[in-house]
Amino acid sequence: VSEYWSSAEPNRSNIPTLGDLRHHGDAEIGPGLVDLAVNVRHGARPGWLSQALAESMQHLAAYPDPTEARKAVAARHHRDPDEVLLTAGAAEAFTLLARALTPERAVVVHPQFTEPEAALRAHGHPVERVILTPGTGFRLGAVPERADLVVLGNPTNPTSVLHPATAVAALARPGRTLVVDEAFADTIPGERESLSARTDLPGLVVVRSLTKTWGLAGLRIGYVLAAPRLIARLAEHQPLWPVSTPALAAAKACSAPQARAAAEAIALELAAHRAHLLAALPPGAVVVGRPQSSFVLIHVSDGERVRAGLRRLGFATRRGDTFPGLGPDWLRIAVRDPHTSDAFAAALARLMRTP
Ligand SMILES: Cc1ncc(COP(=O)(O)O)c(C=O)c1O
Repeated sequence: VSEYWSSAEPNRSNIPTLGDLRHHGDAEIGPGLVDLAVNVRHGARPGWLSQALAESMQHLAAYPDPTEARKAVAARHHRDPDEVLLTAGAAEAFTLLARALTPERAVVVHPQFTEPEAALRAHGHPVERVILTPGTGFRLGAVPERADLVVLGNPTNPTSVLHPATAVAALARPGRTLVVDEAFADTIPGERESLSARTDLPGLVVVRSLTKTWGLAGLRIGYVLAAPRLIARLAEHQPLWPVSTPALAAAKACSAPQARAAAEAIALELAAHRAHLLAALPPGAVVVGRPQSSFVLIHVSDGERVRAGLRRLGFATRRGDTFPGLGPDWLRIAVRDPHTSDAFAAALARLMRTP
């Protein structure tokens, strides 16, 4: 795979390998550790969702039929069903895009979730990186004009930065596919800055996940919103029956109006819990920009020692060094309940006091 590195790449020796790009927070958790490494909500599952999942079990003898779920997702985003493709988590969408598209100049905006780049590279597509920097609060910058595929996250994992919808929409062009990973869009009250209902932007692909807010990472359910022709192309690259009957039931249930209301309440509670975590952090833990999602990126000195120390004290955090543009002094922390955040902040303060 040939690679073109953006001139903004801060440190070539720090470039993660494909293996590093495939490192995710789930590799950091372990028995007895408080999980601050995986950005999946830990709260109780709503009764209506458990009920939908349990009811779906009655139908496991039949092959899955996505029709109803597709309609429900389309209605929730004010779109047509042929603009929706249900996938086995948002992760499957990146593989489908890498299989279906033949970009000449693919650009991934980092730091962000690494799977889109890993999938593109695994399918032989050269990837150019645009690296957003802490100095600007990871603000969205220029993207090469000739890029025919641009991938970015909003809100972005791991920075928790929410880009303005206008800035993201301004990247759309005829002749370019613009992939916006909105896996965490439902962590934002009102889904502010989401482009999910926009059908006027050329080449826009919105990727969504239902695994985070609804605590369904093991179920694998997400979807793509795009123009019907691209949806049909992506579907051709899916295996038969890629989304199970329980996952389809979850997609339908999580798209109903009551689910929207519940997600809004969860997002508002999350904002309060995030404010608590931010206020509890010791002064040496630097937060860049204004975190908006279910995780917070912190910068500490001597990050590797701190991360190892946190593990010893019972906390698994997400290492930052496998994200292009970051390094070992960055740690991503999931927002949990205030009690957990207080315990974490106390452990961090202790480690930062004792070199
Ligand atoms: C930004 C982002 N997008 C997509 C995904 C994949 O989500 P899913 O569980 O729906 O495959 C993740 C998972 O960590 C993520 O962080």
